[in-house]
Amino acid sequence: MTNEAIITKLSSAVAKADAKGLEDLRVAYLGRKGVVTEQLRAVGELPTSERSAAGAAANHLRQSIESLLSERAAELEAASENLAPIDLTKPGSEPILGHHHPVSLLLEDLTDLFWQMGYQVVSGPEVETEWYNFEALNLDTDHPARDTQDTFYLEGGNLPRTHTSGVQVRHMELNKNKLPIRIVAPGKVYRNEDEDARHSWIFHQIEGLVVDKGITLADLKGTLEAMLHGVLGEDTKLRLRPNYFPYTEPSVEMDATCVVCNGDGQVDGVNCKMCGGTGWLELGGAGMVHPQVLRNAGIDPEVYSGFAFGFGPERIAALKYGVDDVREFWRPNLNFLEQF
Ligand code: PHE
Repeated sequence: MTNEAIITKLSSAVAKADAKGLEDLRVAYLGRKGVVTEQLRAVGELPTSERSAAGAAANHLRQSIESLLSERAAELEAASENLAPIDLTKPGSEPILGHHHPVSLLLEDLTDLFWQMGYQVVSGPEVETEWYNFEALNLDTDHPARDTQDTFYLEGGNLPRTHTSGVQVRHMELNKNKLPIRIVAPGKVYRNEDEDARHSWIFHQIEGLVVDKGITLADLKGTLEAMLHGVLGEDTKLRLRPNYFPYTEPSVEMDATCVVCNGDGQVDGVNCKMCGGTGWLELGGAGMVHPQVLRNAGIDPEVYSGFAFGFGPERIAALKYGVDDVREFWRPNLNFLEQF
């Protein structure tokens, strides 16, 4: 058989061969007793003048055979990858849908907690009238909070609410005949403030209001304590300090023991950075609903009393997750947000 004929025959065998068949062909052609080896051996028996040409021809044949075999081997490998059986029971890959924002997570924890204590979760409008945001809460026209330095005003006199306390009045008005009231109202609020690591012009608040017969400051204290234990842990202590809000009387500021130094004020012998060495963190305001606010909503303060509180979940989220700049909560920075 001529070398061309050998190649032609091998080509058609190789084209049909599987991995096993390919190995058999390799042995048959290139092995110790293979066609090529025989040919090379035969070269030695030829007259000297013919050896060189015959040797070259045999080597050329070997190379052709090697490349035929390796091309087919590559083809088989590629096919085996493509032919991996499809597993119809394999779960699909999950599409990336993002996840809850850390402040939403905290608000969810908080509303869950209050819901378990029998509170209703309600909401109010983000664009508020001056009456609900200020006047109905005893914040008269000369109150500094009404200054344009602190409040954004819209054309026509309404405003993006500066706190969630207006929801108190709205809810009392609608439900004055369905007492008792036990609500929390989470939502966004807006203030015309210079931003820094602890302030942002937009943030959340969660407002709480309870109105019933015989409600006292002790009820407020117990409720706030339960809330703190629920979100920051059982070891957290509550401290109430006298304060002033025109819509509560008496009014208090609520502090929690610092989550970083556990109230010691010191970490490894130096002042705690989180609380500035005081051991306490300021969370928000609260107090007994002012009788005039009850009256403004049509509720008789001689019969009913109540407490209200309002605090910022960003502040608590910052404590809980160790975030040192609340503005991060409002930046579209996935590197930050994806940690939660
Ligand atoms: N509205 C107050 C604030 O924004 C907090 C507060 C709510 C105080 C309810 C007393 C009662 O700081």
